[in-house]
Order: sequence, then C-alpha cells, then structure tokens
Amino acid sequence: MTELNGKVIIVTGGASGIGKETVKQLTAKGASVVVADFNEDGAKEVVAEVEANSGIAASYKIDVSKGEEVKALIDWTVEKYGTFNGIFNNAGIGLVKPFLEMDPESYHRVIDVDQHSVYYGMYYGAKKMVELDVKGTIVNTASIYGTAAAIGSFNYNAAKAAVVMMSKSGALELAHYGIRVVGVAPGFIDTPILGNNEEMKNMLAAQHMRGKLIKPEKVASVVVFLFSEGASAINGQTIPVDDGFLS
Ligand code: NAI
Repeated sequence: MTELNGKVIIVTGGASGIGKETVKQLTAKGASVVVADFNEDGAKEVVAEVEANSGIAASYKIDVSKGEEVKALIDWTVEKYGTFNGIFNNAGIGLVKPFLEMDPESYHRVIDVDQHSVYYGMYYGAKKMVELDVKGTIVNTASIYGTAAAIGSFNYNAAKAAVVMMSKSGALELAHYGIRVVGVAPGFIDTPILGNNEEMKNMLAAQHMRGKLIKPEKVASVVVFLFSEGASAINGQTIPVDDGFLS
C-alpha cells in the first residue's frame, strides 16, 4: 500500500515540464492520475510511461482557459475512476512583451490560461468534492513572478499574483468543507516554457542561490507532499520552490 493509493488526482499541463514530473511521482505513490493537456500526443506519451511503470493514468485533451471544458474534465474523471480527490491547476503559458506592446489580446490570453483556468479548476473541482463529500486537495502553480515584478511580464505578473491570492481566499472558504487549497511558487525551472535561448537561460539561472536552473522534479516532489497527509496543516499558503531567488 503506497501513500496515495486510491486517490484520483487531475494534473493540468501534465504533458510537459513540472506537470509531467508530478504525474510520474503521484502515480509512483499509487494515485490514479488524469493527464489533462492541450498537447494530446504529449499527454498520451506520459500515460504510456506511467503504465510501463505499472502506474495508473489516463490522458484528456483540454483547453483549460475554457470553463466548460474544465467542468467536463472533472465529470469525466469521476465517471472513469468513480471519485475525485484532487486537482493540480498547473497548465500555463508565458507571453513576454514590453508594457507598451501589451495589447489586450496578449494580456487576456495569459490571464485566461494562467489565471482563469485556476478559478475554473478550483470552482468546478470544489463543487464536485462537496457533491461527493470528498475532503480533497487543490494545488495551484503560481510563480516567483506572483510577487516579484519582471520586465515584459505585466500579464504574467498579474495572473500569478492572482493565483497566490486565489489559493489563500479559496482555502479560507473551503476549509469548512475539509478541502485544502495550497500553491507552489517555482523559481526558474528547466522546462520548455523557458525557450531555447541559452544566454537568457544562463541569466535566469544566475538568479538562484546555487546559480542553476531548478529541475522540474524538485517542484513535483513538493506538490506531491502538498497532496499528502503530511501536509494536512498547510493551507492557503504558496510554497516557494525557488532555490533562494535573489531579486
Ligand atoms: P511547460 O511548457 O513544460 O508545460 C506547460 C504545459 O501546459 C504544456 O504541456 C502545455 O501544453 C500545457 N498548456 C498550455 N496551455 C494550455 C491550455 N490552454 N490548456 C491545456 N494545457 C495547456 O511549462 P512548465 O514550466 O512545466 O509550466 C508549468 C507551470 O509552471 C505554468 O503554470 C508556469 O507558468 C509555471 N511556472 C514555470 C516556471 C518555469 O521557469 N518553468 C517558473 C514559474 C512558474
């Protein structure tokens, strides 16, 4: 019997980076995981990897910026696995532009994907947990940029700051139902979202105390802990996983 045996957890953005590593670690601890991602092929590959290691996972194609799709994902999960114990609202994008070029489309795209998706996951997720009488856990991915401003990141700063507060506010309201809401605030993680510019990546790496980009599995292990019984007294907080981010 492993720690998360019988738990059913949805991971959005599970096809890549932090989400993918989290899927691998959750399933290794016995959870059944729905890998929900826009990237269907990527999600299927992650499921194949989990199954090759005797874990349980299923893929689900979704655009998390659409509320009705998030609601359908949660209904589908319950139909498939019979229950639903947690959701990791993690899918996200970046779209870097100077503020004077931050047209409404660029602004709204990031707010829709990085912020509104978290609301949908929390809202439909918590409603389903209450309906099922499940005392579940919701984990949201924020960022160091939820508290530190960065040039070119007005949209992302706004979205991630909202995610920090949504975790706190949601936790306050949902504690009464036995539902916990927590977050992680990663530093710079070595995933495809950072792009391929090596000079830029070295600059980002230098902003951590150890001068290195952080591996996605290091965020995943904190997320897995937050889903576990050992974290039952952590609520509303967003835990930095940032190797002592320096600025
Ligand atoms: P990634 O690019 O490796 O993974 C993001 C995943 O989200 C991809 O599989 C992508 O297909 C999926 N996705 C994007 N938009 C989607 C949509 N509308 N619907 C469904 N799926 C969608 O990036 P990474 O680094 O793993 O990012 C995960 C989260 O971590 C994001 O919320 C990101 O903002 C956050 N983060 C990442 C940091 C980094 O340095 N990599 C730093 C701080 C936060």
